[in-house]
Amino acid sequence: MSKIAFVGLGVMGYPIAGHLSVAGHDVCVFNRTEERRVDWIANYSGRWASSPAEAAVGADIILCCVGGDDDLREVTLGEHGVLVTMQSGALLIDHTTASAVVAREVAEKCAERGLGFVDAPLSGGQAGALTGRLSIMCGGTEEHYLQAQTVMNCYALRMLRLGNVGSGQLTKMANQICIAGLLQGLSEGIAFAKNSGLDPLQVLEAIGQGAAGSWQMQHRGTTMVADDYDFGFAVDWMRKDLAICLAEARANGSDLPVTELVDSFYAEIQDMGGYRWDTSSLLRRLPK
Ligand SMILES: NC(=O)c1ccc[n+]([C@@H]2O[C@H](COP(=O)([O-])OP(=O)(O)OC[C@H]3O[C@@H](n4cnc5c(N)ncnc54)[C@H](OP(=O)(O)O)[C@@H]3O)[C@@H](O)[C@H]2O)c1
Repeated sequence: MSKIAFVGLGVMGYPIAGHLSVAGHDVCVFNRTEERRVDWIANYSGRWASSPAEAAVGADIILCCVGGDDDLREVTLGEHGVLVTMQSGALLIDHTTASAVVAREVAEKCAERGLGFVDAPLSGGQAGALTGRLSIMCGGTEEHYLQAQTVMNCYALRMLRLGNVGSGQLTKMANQICIAGLLQGLSEGIAFAKNSGLDPLQVLEAIGQGAAGSWQMQHRGTTMVADDYDFGFAVDWMRKDLAICLAEARANGSDLPVTELVDSFYAEIQDMGGYRWDTSSLLRRLPK
C-alpha cells in the first residue's frame, strides 16, 4: 500500500480518491474549497491537508485532477504546490486534461528534482469515475508508468502508455477531436429524424446497433431526444479541451476544420447560457 496525496476533489477526483482509500492506501487529500474536502473526509478513511504542498509531505505518489494548464501549474509549481515538498523518488500522476506543453514543463521540473511524472488524462466521465471503470491514456517512462499502474488499477478499466511525457495528453486530444465531430453528426441525425416526422427514439433503436452506433448514441441519444442536458461533461470543459486541440494542431500542422466549426457551435451554446450543459447540447442550436 502506498502513501498517497490527492489534489482536486472535483467530479472526477472525489470518487477516484475514494477508490484509493477503499483499496487501503493511506490517502491525504487537498481541495481548494473546504466543503468538498469536509464531505470526502466524512465518507472515506483518510487525512486532509490545507495546501497541496502539505498533502505531498512524505507521499510516495501524488495525484492531481484539477481544471486546466494554469491550475496544474498552480498546484504543482506554485508557491504552495506539491513540488515544494515532494520527496526524492516520489511520482506525480496528473489526471487533468491539459496541454502536452504543460505536461512537459512540469515533468522537466520534476526531473530536475529527482521526481517522476506521468500525464494520465481520463476518459469515461463521471460514471466511469464513480464505478472505477475509467480509460487512462498515459505518457512517461516505462518505469514511471509501471509505478503509476500500481495505484491507477484501483479505478481503471483500461490503461495504456502511449509514449513519453505528453503522449497521454496528445491521445486525449485525439479523443476529443473524435467526439466533437461525432456529437454534431448525432445532433444533425436526431434533428433530421424529428423534422421528417419520424419518432427519433424509434430511429435510434433502428440504427443504434448498426454502422452509425456509438458510445454517444448509446449513452446520450435518449437524453438528447428528451432535451435533457443538466448532467455530464460540461460545454465549458469541452471548449477548454478543444482550445488545447486547436493549439496543438497549429503546432503540428494538422488541419481540423470540423473541430474548429464545432468549437464555434459550442461558443453559441455558451451564449445560450449552456456553460455547464452536457456536450450533447449541440442539438439545442439546430432548428426544430
Ligand atoms: N467531468 C468529466 O466528465 C471529465 C471527464 C474526463 C476528463 N475530465 C477532466 O478532468 C479534470 C477535472 O474535471 P472535473 O469534472 O472533476 O472538474 P471539477 O468538478 O470542476 O473539479 C475540478 C477540481 O479542481 C480543483 N481546482 C481547479 N483549479 C484549481 C486551482 N487553481 N487550485 C486548486 N484546485 C483547483 C477544484 O477545486 P474547487 O472545488 O475549489 O473548485 C476541483 O476540486 C478537468 O481537466 C476535466 O477536463 C473531466
